[in-house]
Amino acid sequence: MKPEVSCWQHPPSRLALKDGELHLWRFSLDAPPEMIQYLQSLLSTNEMVRAERLIDPLKRHSFVMARSCLRQILAKYLGLNPELLKFGYNSSGKPFLSSPTKDKLTFNLSHSGSIAILAVAMDGEVGVDIEKIDAALNFQSVARRYFTLAEMNELEKLSILRRRRQFYRLWTRKEAVLKMYGTGFSLPGSIETFVSDLDHCTLINIFLATSYVSALAVNRRITSIQKFNMLPDREIR
Ligand SMILES: CC(C)(COP(=O)(O)OP(=O)(O)OC[C@H]1O[C@@H](n2cnc3c(N)ncnc32)[C@H](O)[C@@H]1OP(=O)(O)O)[C@@H](O)C(=O)NCCC(=O)NCCS
Repeated sequence: MKPEVSCWQHPPSRLALKDGELHLWRFSLDAPPEMIQYLQSLLSTNEMVRAERLIDPLKRHSFVMARSCLRQILAKYLGLNPELLKFGYNSSGKPFLSSPTKDKLTFNLSHSGSIAILAVAMDGEVGVDIEKIDAALNFQSVARRYFTLAEMNELEKLSILRRRRQFYRLWTRKEAVLKMYGTGFSLPGSIETFVSDLDHCTLINIFLATSYVSALAVNRRITSIQKFNMLPDREIR
């Protein structure tokens, strides 16, 4: 059974995840320059080192924006200051909350272009992916290389006009599943996962914006997805 999905809405002042519920957040990565210093102050030393390694200022600001929004949103659920959260990483780089551990809050983040999405759930593993549709991408050749026969058939059933979006729908589903497992593309053959055939998982494409496609994967049954827009200022604290 597919979960019920809300419209994009302002988050309530008190955030709580009910059983079977998942929250999906959408926010912009266009960091207002006057906010960058404040946003950086929320990051850990490791995150700052990572930010400083990014030579392109746009990429650096996007990273700072993504990490500070991630901290601000998770902190809201936990009733803590964002800078107090600590992240650990699995062997493929998937971040998880290492402190505090009393609430089993799980999350996954994805960014593309100037938009990021963040899925937050209780228990289990979550994966999200967002891709900006690239009108110049030779998606047929990518599909031929990475898609299964069943996925290729699914694409070829469609008119030429609808194929590109469907390619991205399938691609983001694959990435969301790999990010849910936490392996990313590090496992040989992992990209061949047939994304419609997963037991005990919730796997769904989510509408985000006209030129973007996104997907969400969770390794448990989700009955409701609440979608929130993050406020573009400090009020989220
Ligand atoms: C994870 C991966 C699929 C991300 O793909 P992408 O489309 O470039 O990026 P997205 O925007 O969707 O996701 C990036 C975010 O996912 C999270 N992430 C990182 N590694 C992840 C993983 N293995 N699984 C799930 N999520 C991961 C992070 O929050 C990251 O954001 P950050 O860089 O700002 O911290 C890709 O980088 C990958 O395959 N990584 C594995 C590589 C690996 O095994 N490296 C081993 C040495 S660390």
